[in-house]
Amino acid sequence: MSAKVLDGKQIAKDYRQGLKDQVEELTSKGYTPKLSVILVGNDGASLSYVKSKKKAAEKIGITSEIVHLDEDTSEEEVLKELDRLNNDDSVSGILVQVPLPDQVSEQKVLESIDPAKDVDGFHPANIGKLYIDEQTFVPCTPLGVMELLNHADMDLEGKNAVVIGRSHIVGQPVSKLLLQKNATVTILHSRTKDMHAHLKDADVIVSAVGRPGLVTKDDVKEGAVVIDVGNTPDENGKLKGDVEYDEVKEVAGAITPVPGGVGPMTITMVLNNTLLAEKMRRGIE
Ligand code: GUN
Repeated sequence: MSAKVLDGKQIAKDYRQGLKDQVEELTSKGYTPKLSVILVGNDGASLSYVKSKKKAAEKIGITSEIVHLDEDTSEEEVLKELDRLNNDDSVSGILVQVPLPDQVSEQKVLESIDPAKDVDGFHPANIGKLYIDEQTFVPCTPLGVMELLNHADMDLEGKNAVVIGRSHIVGQPVSKLLLQKNATVTILHSRTKDMHAHLKDADVIVSAVGRPGLVTKDDVKEGAVVIDVGNTPDENGKLKGDVEYDEVKEVAGAITPVPGGVGPMTITMVLNNTLLAEKMRRGIE
């Protein structure tokens, strides 16, 4: 049996329509959400990613600006720019695109974002809140993964969820969100001894390592839900996931394609969090 394809493009489109309606309602009350993105340097992938975020924001009525700084901008200047945005009352959400050039400490910059405007959920205060189950900004890719899982027709309670990768941006926060849904969560990483045995026991697999071909059909239990966060460009620039899609589709119960799976959901959740930031500071909901 062929898996249900979790169409991230369509799910994102529907979700964004819901956000658009909420933005309209807020705007009618005089509060228009605004997303400010700081980009340092000219990395092609980062530039196109940041432009997509701006375009997606504007499409649903969120105002957006890109603060584009030169590759050789000093840490002090980046922090000054960030301080300006932290104190600008017209700005609801701030996102600093990573990676940053070597002369700028990522940790220092991320810790300098006002936690109330931290729509990426990268500030230690927000990470801490997530781990004690307080309402907060949750990183966007993990939020997008959970929304895709909502469309997989599987109650996660008591299920074996296996996450491959332990990054701070994806692997660890998504594990926490799965735990909040009462799944039994296992995190696999580069030192894991028998990856195959863990995967074979999984009802849900979330792969977030960026290694094409990592998950094959022999790893996947019949009917398992497979979410592929990998997006590695091949030699022709075509994006490849971690999962051997064509063969895994034949055994999985549901699966995300790459591209068109997790990617559109991440941007959607940046918009979601920007709207949330505006609502929170206005004391709405
Ligand atoms: N670079 C790659 N992914 C992300 C992300 O989700 N947020 C930010 N700020 N930078 C990124």
